[in-house]
Amino acid sequence: MRLAVVGFGGVGQAFVDLLLLKRSYLYNEGLDIKINYIMNSRGGVYSPTGIDCASLVEFSKANGDLSQYKNGGSKQITFESIMKNKDIDVLVEMTPTNKETGEPGMTYIERALEKGIHVITSNKGPVMLAYKRLNKLAAKNGVQLGIGCTSGGALPTVNGGLIDMAGAEILSIEGILNGTTNFILDEMAQKGVTYDDALKKAMDLGIAEADPTLDVEGWDTATKLLILTNILMNEEKTLADILVEGITGITPEQIEKAKREGKKYKLVGRTENRDGSLHMTVRPEKLDRGHPLYSIDGRHKAVRYVSDTLGDLTLSGGASGVTPAAASVLRDLINIYRGYRYSI
Ligand SMILES: NC(=O)c1ccc[n+]([C@@H]2O[C@H](COP(=O)([O-])OP(=O)(O)OC[C@H]3O[C@@H](n4cnc5c(N)ncnc54)[C@H](OP(=O)(O)O)[C@@H]3O)[C@@H](O)[C@H]2O)c1
Repeated sequence: MRLAVVGFGGVGQAFVDLLLLKRSYLYNEGLDIKINYIMNSRGGVYSPTGIDCASLVEFSKANGDLSQYKNGGSKQITFESIMKNKDIDVLVEMTPTNKETGEPGMTYIERALEKGIHVITSNKGPVMLAYKRLNKLAAKNGVQLGIGCTSGGALPTVNGGLIDMAGAEILSIEGILNGTTNFILDEMAQKGVTYDDALKKAMDLGIAEADPTLDVEGWDTATKLLILTNILMNEEKTLADILVEGITGITPEQIEKAKREGKKYKLVGRTENRDGSLHMTVRPEKLDRGHPLYSIDGRHKAVRYVSDTLGDLTLSGGASGVTPAAASVLRDLINIYRGYRYSI
């Protein structure tokens, strides 16, 4: 398979590293992967016979300007040129998430699908804004759209629902979908520290980002819940349909009281039918010891689906970080190679 890797930041670089690491696994699968293009916002690298990834990875550690790479680097390598050359089978799209417009990923994904090129994306923006339209476009053009990375990375939330719950109606979704907030709440409960101290520790450990607003105010969880709800429950919701409350107001006293009651606070994303209509919430909830999400601690994530015919299923665990995110992109690539159809 001939790939274009568009977006060469944390996940993009981890993806290329992973292809090197998994070379013999992929060889044994019979999967011959050539990366013909690697592109970021400043330019790209092109080789019609496959980029020498080991050498490029070495170069990019010292210089982020791919256009200066001596074996095929150029400012002339743009998305337009990739589309024009018609020498890729798969676009691996890993540009930054834009929740308002989905750009630049939205246009890249659309253009590739229209040209009959498979797409795998780690980018939540286009998926939360237009998954159904993009999926139809993929089906119309006889190609696949893999989005397994966009809601939980290593934790197979989307694919677990799509593949392993096929034929069942998912009646409700409940999840701890953000590892950073789960770590902070757990730290507060275990050590009795304040929210600010727990957040600082998460930042020191590199678990929380420099600007953790989207995580701690619940919007990362809301985005993932939206993706899961629209895809797995066949809805057309938007972020505005979700009641979102983060964890910034949680006090050590509340955590302590929950502990005395034998409960734990978790930031839960929940979609459920109540009184004949669908309710979507993201908020700190006190969970009982018997709840399937009660024991999901630290930076772990989990999702629970209640269905009509397959019962109550909870998926939990999976590693966090750029390498597991890249591994979930590779997982989709292998499944597409094996003939799995996400887009029908
Ligand atoms: N980090 C994670 O653990 C994780 C997990 C799951 C999903 N994701 C999602 O995966 C995507 C990538 O994440 P990341 O952490 O790798 O982000 P990142 O480090 O910010 O990298 C983004 C890359 O996209 C490139 N880019 C920006 N605008 C572009 C354009 N117009 N055309 C081509 N390339 C462009 C950037 O190029 P420059 O370097 O030249 O600016 C950079 O190489 C995001 O959508 C993110 O939400 C990330």
